[in-house]
Parts: sequence; C-alpha cells; structure tokens
Amino acid sequence: PSPESIQSLILQTLSSSGFIPDSRQLAVDGRVLNSAEDQGAVRGVLDSLQSREMIEYKQITTTSFTLTDEGRTINENGSHEIRVWKALPVKGQGEPVTVQELQKLVGPDVAKVGQSRAFKNKWIAKDGNGFVRAVEAPSDETADQLREINEKGDHPGGEGVTKELQKRKLIQPKKHIHYSITKGSNFSTEVKQLETDLTVEMLQSGAWKDSSFKQYNFAATGQPTDGGALHPLLKVREEFRNIFFDMGFTEMPTNRFVESAFWNFDAMFVPQQHPAREMQDTFYVKDPVKSLRPDEEYYQRVRKVHEEGGFGSIGYRAPFSKEEGEKLLLRTHTTAVSTAMLYELANQKGGFKPAKMYSIDRVFRNETADATHLAEFHQVEGVVADYNITLGNLIAFMQEFFAKTGNHKLRFKPAYNPYTEPSMEVFSWHEGLGKWIEIANSGIFRPEMLEPMGLPKGVRVLGWGMSLERPTMIKYKISDIRTLVGHKTDLDQVKKRAAVRLEKGDD
Ligand code: PHE
Repeated sequence: PSPESIQSLILQTLSSSGFIPDSRQLAVDGRVLNSAEDQGAVRGVLDSLQSREMIEYKQITTTSFTLTDEGRTINENGSHEIRVWKALPVKGQGEPVTVQELQKLVGPDVAKVGQSRAFKNKWIAKDGNGFVRAVEAPSDETADQLREINEKGDHPGGEGVTKELQKRKLIQPKKHIHYSITKGSNFSTEVKQLETDLTVEMLQSGAWKDSSFKQYNFAATGQPTDGGALHPLLKVREEFRNIFFDMGFTEMPTNRFVESAFWNFDAMFVPQQHPAREMQDTFYVKDPVKSLRPDEEYYQRVRKVHEEGGFGSIGYRAPFSKEEGEKLLLRTHTTAVSTAMLYELANQKGGFKPAKMYSIDRVFRNETADATHLAEFHQVEGVVADYNITLGNLIAFMQEFFAKTGNHKLRFKPAYNPYTEPSMEVFSWHEGLGKWIEIANSGIFRPEMLEPMGLPKGVRVLGWGMSLERPTMIKYKISDIRTLVGHKTDLDQVKKRAAVRLEKGDD
C-alpha cells in the first residue's frame, strides 16, 4: 500500500474511533498490515504526521517464537523420551529392550537423550538387561508445548516455558514492532502542505498568518562543518619564522607590495641599465605615475655613487635618471625592504645599532608560468648588520640557519649580485634526490649601497635569500607549483596536507 493510502487510513480510523491500539490491525483494501515491512511503511507515515503534531504514537515491541528444525521434528514425531517409551514393551508383556536394540529402533541420538529424560520422568524402568515401560500413558509435555507455540507463536506458561525450550534449542525468538496511535494537538483528517521558508512575499501579503510551518528538526545530524586550514606555504613560513626568532632576528615590515624603483634598485646600487629592470622582467605600475622622493641628501649621494663613484668605487659612470628611480613597480625582491630598513637603521635616533632582521613575503617577477615558476612567489630573507663581520660569519649564520631546516651539508659557490660582493650561491646535499640542490643566494652588501645611507664605515651587512615555494614543494612532494598556488589549487589537498617539521630534513 502507498504511504498516502496508509496515511488516510490512519487519519480516518483516528477520526472515527479516536485511538489505534495496535497498528497491525490496520487494513488497506482488506489486506492487514501485519508484516514487518508494512509496519516499516506505517512508521514512515507516523513520523511525518507526528512532526506536524497531527498524531502521537508509541512503539511497542513484542516477541514471538518459532520452532527450530529440531523443535519441528518433535512437534511431528513426539519428544525423544516419548519415542523411547513407545519403543518399549509393557512390563511382563514382552522381552525388555536392551540399549543396543533401542539404538536400532529409534536411532542413537533419540535413544541417548530420550532414555535419560524418560528415566528422569520415571516413564521407564530397568528390567534385567533391558528396559520396559513404567507408566501407562505419559503425557508428552514438550511436544504439547511446541504444538501450542507452533500454532500461536507463544505459550500461556510464559517465560517459564519458553526459556527452557529456548535453552534446549527447540524454539527461537523473533521481535516484532508495532505502534499504538492517538490524536495529536493538530489533529485533522486533512494534511496541510507545510511551509519550509518564511519568504518576503509571505510577509508582504500577510500570508504568513494563515500558513503552517514545518517544525525544526533539532535531531537532524546536519551538514558536517568544515574547519579552516593553513595553506602549505603558511605552514612552512611558520617554521622559518620560528627559526629566525630562535636565532634572535626581528621581523621587517613587508606590507608594501608596490615599491619605487629607487628602493628596489637604485638604493641597492643596481645600475639603471641592468636588464632585470626592464619591463620583460619587472611589473611597473601605471597609476600613480611617480613615487614620493626619498630624502634629498640621501638621494644625491645615491645618484653620485652611480654616476661618479665614491667610497672607494668608480661607480657606473653612466647617466642616472631621476625618472627611472621614481617609477613604481611590484617589488621584485624583499631585499628592497631590507634596504629601506638598513637606511632606517643608519638614520635612527641614537645612531646605528647592530641588528638581525628577517622577512618572509611576496615578490613579483614578470615570468611565464610553468611547473616551477609563477609571476609571484615568496622570499625568505635574513639580514645581519654589525661591526667587523666577515664572509666567515655569513657562512656560519647560514650553516646554523639551514641546519635548523634539516640541511646539514652545504656548499658555497661564488656568484654575482649587483648589490653584494662577494656573493655566494648555497647548495645543499639532498639525501632523497641524491644530488646537490641550490637553496639560497647570499652575499655581503656593497659599500656603494651602505655608505650613502650613512652607516658607519666599519659596519658590514650580510644577507641571504631564498624562495618559500621551493622548500615547500620539496617537503610536500609537489612537482607543479600551479597546484600549490593559484586557481588550480586543490583545496582538498590544502586541507589534507599535514604540518611539517623542517628540522627533520628533506626526506
Ligand atoms: N635578493 C636576492 C634574490 O633575489 C637574495 C639576497 C638577499 C642575496 C640578500 C643577497 C643578500 O635572490
């Protein structure tokens, strides 16, 4: 029967008799709904009606019994003990039956169990070498009980009888569920369509006053909620950050993506003719057209060191354009920030003090995106400024720093940067890849960069920089950077990636 027909049956029955004590008595088109399946369908209808408070119901669980295979044999042929009794002669009216003969007559199993129970019941007795009947007509209680249960599903003797039969594995219980049903506070034979949402239209027209609303289902499990997750780059950034803090570095303010060409290049003694400054490599900003000018005296010292030299340098001896330095661009390295910070350090109240500073933030380069390059990435950079420090100190700083990231075997190779001299590329032995991989760029900042700032003569500044993406990709075994950053990022993967511990090495 359809849920609709069950529903109207329940509502009609309640309307006429007020109470349905047992839902198994309901009948649709003369068919009684007494199977477990029917009661399941009834339950569905009851839940829906109850949620509208049209009815209330109680679940009733009952147990009935069915015969096991063995129970059925006894029901048909009598109990083992009665079969033994039947096989024996009345005392004095025939030869007593021996154990062996009995086994042949009723079978070994029936003989064994039946003989002992018949003895216990005093139905049989020993006579010489065999057995004879000891009573005239015993009543076969077990068979009688099983017949009753087979017909009615239960026995009036209750548990006293059924427990024993269950223990003898002659019957097995079966659970049944049915329901008793009464009218609810919203009882009606008509089922109103319930509104699930209160809409603007209902409010405007006043229709909400006559509408019935669906009840909240507070028992519903609801949608599983999603927790937030740190992007893998942020997890690795946190690791680097902690290493810098461990080593006594302070964080530089890197909240300026747009920088002037002056700070990004000129102040660092990058020649204005350097290819990195061309549009193919650097993103320039159209609007606003010009940056603010730095302090005029400092600016003039920078111009002079480019054009004419100074501080022991012959300079580039090439024209230096004011406009070139006023251009605005997306910073190409965080070293632009380090440069501005070094200028601050030289000109702060009370004069220069030694400092260890770091930054980890975004930089931009005009690159064609491929598996290992994007037009933006993050740089990790450390800078140390102090009197009389040397290349040895730089190497020692990097050895300590990289050891904390699990890189214990380093190699240094001379390199070139316009703003450092000497410069070194840093390589680390990667156990998993079985080769030396480049991990950083480093150097000692040139006097042409530092002295125009007004840093004292004996002050040396060391620095190293690297990308955040590369160690992250190695750690998480990501081969295409486009799956880590950008619109192709798999958010599910972002959530699943575990935290990393850099000091555990590149495995
Ligand atoms: N700015 C360099 C780069 O872009 C890194 C670097 C930082 C090198 C500090 C030397 C000193 O790779």
